[in-house]
Amino acid sequence: MKDQYNNSSAPIGVFDSGYGGLTILRDIRRRLPQYDYLYLGDNARAPYGSRSFDVVYDFTLQAVKYLFERGCKLVILACNTASAKALRTIQQCDLPQLDSTRRVLGVIRPTVEELGAESQNGNIGILGTPGTVNSGSYAMEISKLYPDYHTYSQACPMWVPLVENKEYDMPGADYFVEKYIKELFAKCGDIDTVILGCTHYPLLLEKIKQYVPSGVKILPQGAIVADSLADYLKRHSEISSHCTTNGTVEFLTTESSEKFQELASIFLNSDVTASHIVL
Ligand code: DGL
Repeated sequence: MKDQYNNSSAPIGVFDSGYGGLTILRDIRRRLPQYDYLYLGDNARAPYGSRSFDVVYDFTLQAVKYLFERGCKLVILACNTASAKALRTIQQCDLPQLDSTRRVLGVIRPTVEELGAESQNGNIGILGTPGTVNSGSYAMEISKLYPDYHTYSQACPMWVPLVENKEYDMPGADYFVEKYIKELFAKCGDIDTVILGCTHYPLLLEKIKQYVPSGVKILPQGAIVADSLADYLKRHSEISSHCTTNGTVEFLTTESSEKFQELASIFLNSDVTASHIVL
């Protein structure tokens, strides 16, 4: 069935497995404050990072369909794991069936495009969830755009749980931050740019900076994705003209709304009101 959703204008959908996408939303709202946003965190089923390809795809597709039902013309997968494991299939197989006029965009491609402006020696470190790292998506995108670059990846399975459980700024987090960064630099001591390839990781940025050798650039994704979205909306008026512009944001979570509100308010530095939904 084609174009089955209602066609009126709506907010831009922003999806993540949990709180991580808030780091993207924050920068998108700074860059494009005029638009309305509908944020959905699948906190009840986070983390996605250790789940299989099929499960991440199923969960992500459910979320995308939900946001389409709410009218979103454009959905940003503000989650590397979902971008790595579900985006291509959704774009190529599901969108033509669901509604060929809607768009789903991810965070990996814009991040990779930025590397040319950041890296001098082409040795790129990637920190991500096991799902993102094992998918090989970053290495693949990088080799397409920059065939001479070398990529070194490190899975950090404990970092998302540290964030989701509000332990990211506790002394106990240092152990796992140091451990994974040491493991990354043991693979290559000459990395000059490190991608934080998970939207949860900016919450650990202060600790990450302590263990990454000085002079190495650390790339969080928020501002990069925000700039790329601004450019996309400028080039695609058929999409941007269907995105409402009252400067609002609404939060949805599959976990308890109280729990979401508490942590999201800390991450965003402002009060958050969330509604519980079932996917
Ligand atoms: N924020 C997601 C990402 O960027 C998190 C992953 C998870 O749920 O493990 O990959």
